[in-house]
Amino acid sequence: MSSDAGTWQVIPPKGRRGRQRLADLLTQEAVNAQTRAGTPPATSFLDAASIAADHEKLCSKWRDSSSYRELCALVSANTVGHATIKTAICLGPGSFDVRDESSRYCRSSHDAHVQLEAFRTVVGLLEEKSGYKIQCYAQEPSFGPSDKEYCHSLGIEVVDTPGAFQHVDSTAFVFGIHLPHVAWGYALSHHLPGLYVGTSLNSLDELNTALRDDKALAAVIARVEEMRSSADRWAFPAGERHTWLESTFSSTEILWLREKADDAFGGEKG
Ligand SMILES: C[S@@+](CC[C@H](N)C(=O)[O-])C[C@H]1O[C@@H](n2cnc3c(N)ncnc32)[C@H](O)[C@@H]1O
Repeated sequence: MSSDAGTWQVIPPKGRRGRQRLADLLTQEAVNAQTRAGTPPATSFLDAASIAADHEKLCSKWRDSSSYRELCALVSANTVGHATIKTAICLGPGSFDVRDESSRYCRSSHDAHVQLEAFRTVVGLLEEKSGYKIQCYAQEPSFGPSDKEYCHSLGIEVVDTPGAFQHVDSTAFVFGIHLPHVAWGYALSHHLPGLYVGTSLNSLDELNTALRDDKALAAVIARVEEMRSSADRWAFPAGERHTWLESTFSSTEILWLREKADDAFGGEKG
């Protein structure tokens, strides 16, 4: 790739063996990261009903925002002409649970709830526009029992890492905000998704100037660049400045593969 600095190059792996080596490397990196992440909590402070109540409270500002309106308009206007989505994967939103009552409605809960809402908003619009029922998965190592129950109540299947990555293919919508790059590496190692909402190439490039010898990062950059060559791209609509929403979706871009002539709508739906 060419970077603005023009001082380094990433060569995307060529052929099946190159891909396989990359996949092995990224698998190992993701396993290492998961090991560092520790074990998920065995108990929850909030129950699923309280999490659902928090969701309504914390998402109302975003639903009233230009970020929400622009996201809806973007998805609605581009369903036709871009990859058809049949699976949706929400990676690393963070836990909806809190340590104690005083940390309820904290910044991280806000971002987890609003990001989940954005994920579900996109899924809802895609289903409405395409007529396809979308199978949803969520993967978050810090999910406790109530997080899982809450997702289940929304029809989202929670899987342990690295289970969600196997569902990535050209009909998948993969959503991960501020996700560690090793997780992106694993997610993108075998197949590119039809719709990517994740770390922008600029942010990955900036990270790369700090982590020059990080092979996994270089591989992720190569994969995002590969996706960019056959996708349309938008910055994720930013939230209002000087509010929590300003950074809830920072450094995030949307890449949507342009539809190929042979996978036009009209195939079997259901
Ligand atoms: C920097 S936090 C971002 C949390 C939230 N998305 C936000 O923007 O506030 C990164 C998140 O990725 C999650 N994560 C790490 N490895 C993951 C994996 N293999 N699959 C899914 N999520 C992962 C972490 O548990 C953590 O919640």
